[in-house]
Parts: sequence; C-alpha cells; structure tokens
Amino acid sequence: MSNKFSSSLYQKNLDNFNILQNKLSKIEASTMHGQLPLVWDHAVGEEVYDEYGNVYTDFTSGIFVANAGHSHPRVVNAIVEATTKGVLHTYTYLNKYRVSYLEYLLKVTPSNFEKAFLTSAGSEATEAGLKLMRLGGIKKNKRRNGIICFQGAWHGRTLGAQGMSGNEEQKSWFGFKDPNIHFLPFPYPWLEKYNSNSGEQFMKDINELCARENIELDKDIAGFMIETFQGYGAIFYPSEYMLALDKLAKKNDIYMCFDEMQSGFGRTGKLFGYEHYSVTPDIICCGKGISSSLPLSAILTSAELIDLPGAGNMSSTHSGNPIACAAAEASLRVIIEEGLIENSEKMGKVLLDELNRLKNKYSNVISLVCGKGLLAAVHFGSPGEQKGVEIANRLCFACLSRGILLVKTNRETIKFGPPLSMKEDKIVNSFKIIDEELSKILSTL
Ligand SMILES: Cc1ncc(COP(=O)(O)O)c(C=O)c1O
Repeated sequence: MSNKFSSSLYQKNLDNFNILQNKLSKIEASTMHGQLPLVWDHAVGEEVYDEYGNVYTDFTSGIFVANAGHSHPRVVNAIVEATTKGVLHTYTYLNKYRVSYLEYLLKVTPSNFEKAFLTSAGSEATEAGLKLMRLGGIKKNKRRNGIICFQGAWHGRTLGAQGMSGNEEQKSWFGFKDPNIHFLPFPYPWLEKYNSNSGEQFMKDINELCARENIELDKDIAGFMIETFQGYGAIFYPSEYMLALDKLAKKNDIYMCFDEMQSGFGRTGKLFGYEHYSVTPDIICCGKGISSSLPLSAILTSAELIDLPGAGNMSSTHSGNPIACAAAEASLRVIIEEGLIENSEKMGKVLLDELNRLKNKYSNVISLVCGKGLLAAVHFGSPGEQKGVEIANRLCFACLSRGILLVKTNRETIKFGPPLSMKEDKIVNSFKIIDEELSKILSTL
C-alpha cells in the first residue's frame, strides 16, 4: 500500500487543496467546506486517487454512495450507453431506463413493496415518506397526522426532513414547532434501562410520550419514522425494542417507515438494513448507495399508499432521470449478481474484528464499537466528550496523511463504510496504520 503513497506527494495534494480551498471560500457557501484536505482526481473500486498518484484506501464510499465500488465498469458503461444515446433528461415523460430499473428494483425487493417513486435526494425521499404517512393517516381519520420520530435521528436538511430529525439546535431556524411531530428517546446501548428488557422500556417510553403530549395512538398517530441505525455512531436498535415497536404499530394501524439512506443496498450485509429486525415496514426511503454514482433516491411502498397523491402531485423535475436510472439498475445488478451483499457480511466481520482488537488494546479511550456488514463506528470516550472528538478528528487527519480515508463525523466517533467490494488484506493493512497513528496521538495527550 505504501509504495503507492508518499509523504512528499501527499504534501503536493495539501498544497493543491489549499489553493482550491482558498478560491472556493470566496465563491462558494462555507457550508460545503470542512472536509478532510483531499482533492479527488478519480476513484476506482475501493481506492481514491489524487492528482499526484497517491492512492487512498476508501472507508467512506463518499459517503455511503459507491456501494458497488467506485466507477464500476458496468455502472460506467450504463451511464455511457444512455448518455451516448442522447437521452439526458425527459422530465416525467416516459423513458425506457425508468421502466427497466423500476421493474428490476421491485423484482428483487420484498413483495409488500408494490410500487416506487423516484426522486433525486435523500431528503426528498424522507419528505415523501412523511407526506404519504400523513395522507394515509388522514384518510383513516381526519386528525390522524402525528408522526413519531427519534431523538438524535437524522433524515435530511429540508423542512419536513429536518423536522423529523432529532437535533433541536439544528432546527432553531424554523421559527415554529410542528405540534404533530413527536419524539421518543433513542435506546442508546450505554443507557442501562435499554439493556435488559428493552421491549418493556419501549412501552414505558411510548406511554409517557402519549400522557405528556395528550396522544391517542389509534386516533392521532399516522406513522413512525425510523432511521435504521443511528447514523453518527452506527447504533442499531435492540431487536426486542424494534419487535415491540412493530407490534404496537400493527395493533394501532400505524405505518412504519424506515429511512434506509445509509443502510440500503447491501451496506449492512443484507439488501436493506431493516431486515436485521425481522419486521415488515410499510415504507422505505432510499438514496445514497442506490446508484453508486448519480443523484437518485426512491420511496418504496404499497400501491394503495403511493397512489394517494394524484398524477403530478408528488413528482419533481428530475424524478426518474434516465441516466440515473440506467446507473442505478447497473449498480443494483452488480451488488446482487457479483455477491457484494455476501461480501459485505463477510468483510464486515473482518472490519469488526479489527475494531474490537483496537478496542481491547486502547480500552481506556475506546468506549464502544458497533456495526453490521460493512458499516461500523468506533466511539472514543463518553457521548459528547471533547477529548473523544479531538482524538477522532486527529485520527482522521493522520490516517489521510497515510493513505486511508475515514468518515469524520466531527463527533466522538469515526465511521467506516467502504465499498462493498472491499478486500480482507486492505482492511487488515489499513488497521495496522490506524493502530500506529492512534498510538502516536494518544502518546501526545
Ligand atoms: C439517514 C439519512 N437520511 C436522510 C439523509 C438525507 O439525504 P440527502 O443528503 O441525500 O438529502 C441522509 C444524509 O446523510 C441520511 O444519512
């Protein structure tokens, strides 16, 4: 690995980054900045290249998008074929790529998903999930428009999507609070009460919420919006907790919508992350790894629910773009036909073993390691602890300077989400370097 990476050439990347960053800071919104100092030249498979020939092993899939691997030849060919044909955009007029992709997508997903709706960004998909749950709820009963979400969850940055997200500070610009969006505490594994009987604790939490906010579940609540795992820390719900939620939802005729943005398309070692819970959602919202390339997102649900908005009432200009659909079909075929879901499960075990080895070695600073498939996170210190944030950030910078690209969360966690084609030797070699760099950082604290 090191023969494709040199510190003097890395310095050239840094110089190039500083020049471009200076230019951009004058002409682009600063919200786009704050990433690690790397200028991508191109990316192939599990590797990202800068202009100077340095190769970085990619544990980000930039970010959770390149599930089939960067620039997979079948995805590239599909894009080239559709582009060469000259069908770059059709608005919502029909094109054969949209038909072909939707047929394949629905063929390989569970049969309760009868229809899909294609959008461009993840936030659009979660917004559509919110709209469909509310339309469905209100159809049952006029006042039934409540949505139960989770504290600490993330569903995107547009008004409805952020409204369902659980960070109050990030919503302070709203100027109002939707009285029909309700929040449950998230069952974090470090909270003792969720460790033994989490199903019972779920019932306590929901009863408290109903009493506090004067909610009747079967009259006021349309749906649950559930992030399949809590993003920043790869934290899944305890299975008992989710089974209790599923039971309560079914009993009260409440929709369950899973936000599969990060967990979809093989990421967690199953086609969709919700499959780990043995529950059947009514709706799933997907994006990111859907095409391993171009912007596309999707909502999958029953025909009854998805057809509630009439023709034209839920589409957008780029819904079902032909090139994005061609890329998405090729990507999904690669993931399924080339065994990448199985590889995600298998390599996920290698990744988790390496993380646990690190945890055992540095047990004074690593408090938790979580993950399923090729999705994992390491937690430094206790939640929100500044020293943990510092270690995590410094480790991301240090690893980049050694040719390893990690997901910097700006919190006390680092996330790992490599392309699903990741190989064992690349994981093992990368962790030798991660270990060396962590040891150096700790020696300075
Ligand atoms: C779980 C989850 N939901 C929704 C979104 C929003 O997706 P997008 O950024 O494509 O709008 C994200 C993006 O990070 C996400 O991780």
